[in-house]
Amino acid sequence: MEVRAESQKFYDVEADALVVTIYEGEGLDDSALKELEERTGGILSELLGSDEMRGKQGDMVYVYRPGQIRSRRLLLVGAGKREDFSFNTIRKVTGSAARFLRGKGARSMAILRRSQLDLGRSAQAATEGALLGLFEPDIYKTENKEERRIDELILVSAAEDTGQERNLYGELESGVERGRIIGEAVNLARELSAEPSSTLTPSELAERAKENASRFGLDIDILDEARMKELGMGALLGVARGSDEPARLIVLRYEPDGTEPMGNDADVIAIVGKGVTFDSGGISIKPAEGMEKMKYDMSGAAATLAAMRAIAQLKPRVNVIGLMPATENMPSGRAYKPGDVLRAMTGKTIEVINTDAEGRLILADAIGYARKLGATRIIDLATLTGACAVALGSVNVAILGNDQAFIDEIREAGREVGERLWQLPMDDEYRDMIKSDIADIKNSAGRYGGTITASCFLREFAEDTPWVHLDIAGTAWESERKPYMAKGPTGVAIRTLINYITNHAAK
Ligand code: BES
Ligand code: MN
Ligand code: ZN
Repeated sequence: MEVRAESQKFYDVEADALVVTIYEGEGLDDSALKELEERTGGILSELLGSDEMRGKQGDMVYVYRPGQIRSRRLLLVGAGKREDFSFNTIRKVTGSAARFLRGKGARSMAILRRSQLDLGRSAQAATEGALLGLFEPDIYKTENKEERRIDELILVSAAEDTGQERNLYGELESGVERGRIIGEAVNLARELSAEPSSTLTPSELAERAKENASRFGLDIDILDEARMKELGMGALLGVARGSDEPARLIVLRYEPDGTEPMGNDADVIAIVGKGVTFDSGGISIKPAEGMEKMKYDMSGAAATLAAMRAIAQLKPRVNVIGLMPATENMPSGRAYKPGDVLRAMTGKTIEVINTDAEGRLILADAIGYARKLGATRIIDLATLTGACAVALGSVNVAILGNDQAFIDEIREAGREVGERLWQLPMDDEYRDMIKSDIADIKNSAGRYGGTITASCFLREFAEDTPWVHLDIAGTAWESERKPYMAKGPTGVAIRTLINYITNHAAK
């Protein structure tokens, strides 16, 4: 999709469709709406405030051949209350409009800027919204494969917006570029999550990481099982034992170029993402219903790859490493079993209570390895617990950690990009729940407080390094179609990670 900016009058823009947002309770005071009213023979005065167009989010009115405007179609989209209008509204409105218009066969779409929000960031949000909205996880459909696609997005702003004095055109262009980098990264992760485990094995995930690393200039190291063994990664190897597919630990590294001293040059941020390419539960096997979805149990790893790729393009001045422990969790005659004791790389011993609590085991070794590589801050993300989906549904990501200021920074980074994160507590009593009689800790404390006890388990491996854990089990897969987003993998948390890292580097 090509994205460009125009400062023509909206009625002179030639596109298959023109999109105009309408605020809740809005009349015809605005000069652009007045102009539109005249050129369309008075449809706005009839529509605005009617049941069809109250201006609420989700309201849409579609007009074919609307009159004296160059574009062949007009789409009015409700934007909600003017005072609540945000970059997130721009993302949703653009996504909804793009999806709707693609269904009508439009190939190009122009959207009129109607707010005073920062121009560059608005352009970024619109670009992201269109890219995220148009994504379809239908890789393997052979019939009725939609030939329809929007290949041009035109951002229309009034001439006074793009005047020379502040190089606003430059801001627009860089906003579009940023939006494209981020939108495409998120869609890469969504594609990987949708991919069946028969094709997206741990080795294939490593291949895809390699392709992205060489294309975008990241260093990569792919550890095979022999190297994991040398390093003593008994937890990761324990999980991998039941599978015929060999495990991989994929390590990506980004270093800013230039030799001048950096504000935060001592910092090495590690992103660690759970990469279980299929979670059958292992010997503690899962029920059949819904098991097909466990191909997305590598969404944390996909998010890690996506964020690293975007970082390589955005080039913030901070060191970032991405670690993706990748394995299947399968039952077999060689599989690890309940009652087994595993020794993690850090030396801690773990009693296996439930082989379906495998995510924390592979993360234990990856977090330990991140520290070994010199990480000064660690963010892990994982589809870790069903309990997270029970507690927070598909609305909020659970956030926990050992450093409140770090947690707050990431929550704020999420808020800025319209991703919601809700903190869960980590009192000492929860730590007591993972004590084992035979080993240092056990991998499951049962269902109650499941997200928290899983997090307590991970904290044992982060030790005193500032660390934040994101449980994306409820949010990485959306089972309902939204006007602005296909159902399926969401790519959640990637935009938060990118925003956190670029904010952090700017300090
Ligand atoms: N991958 C699952 C968690 C999950 C469940 C993600 C549903 C998305 C949707 C994880 O490996 C798991 O099985 N967790 C167990 C832990 C339990 C055995 C302590 C769970 O949540 O039931
Ligand atoms: Mn599991
Ligand atoms: Zn899992």
